[in-house]
Amino acid sequence: MSTQRTMTTTVNTLMRQLKDNPVNWALIAILAYVVRSYASSSKPMIQEAKHPEVMVFKNYTPIDLLPFDGHGKEGRILMAVNGSIYDVTRGRNFYGPGGPYANFAGHDASRGLANNSFDRDMLTDPKEAIDKLEDLTTEEWESLREWEQHFASKYLFVGKLVENQ
Ligand code: HEM
Repeated sequence: MSTQRTMTTTVNTLMRQLKDNPVNWALIAILAYVVRSYASSSKPMIQEAKHPEVMVFKNYTPIDLLPFDGHGKEGRILMAVNGSIYDVTRGRNFYGPGGPYANFAGHDASRGLANNSFDRDMLTDPKEAIDKLEDLTTEEWESLREWEQHFASKYLFVGKLVENQ
């Protein structure tokens, strides 16, 4: 049998099968749709790497910290823990507006963390001198240090807390 004859027979068989069983038409339609959507897909297969936002390490006074409470344009949240500033923006569910620990955002949270309390009276007025925490008990210092380790392992350390000018 010649090649041309074999092809003709195959095509005839296919056509007969299509005529006999309408399910084949549905399968062809689905196949065509899949091929078409794959071919016309404009999304690149490899996504470009996105560089994380850069935050320069610097000193912040308590007043400098205030705007970083999650309400700003970029929603950035900073928080001081025992003299170190952490960028806790990715914990916005905790510290962002309406979050359970929103009081800490843009503030020195040290006393609250030492006392395991997020009450407002745990915060020092940002216009005043930095809380020296001199009255903390051994247990409270331990609590603060444990929190400090938690923050250091989870968030970016972006600066130091210094006195207002
Ligand atoms: C009513 C009692 C409390 C409950 C049920 C509670 C619940 C939680 C839960 C479920 C987490 C998330 C833990 C995780 O996924 O790592 C968390 C984290 C945290 N909690 Fe509480 N908490 C309570 C009280 C407090 C208090 C009084 C403070 C005050 C210092 C506090 C400060 C924090 C902080 C700083 C975090 C870490 C958030 C982070 O990883 O950025 N919590 N809490």
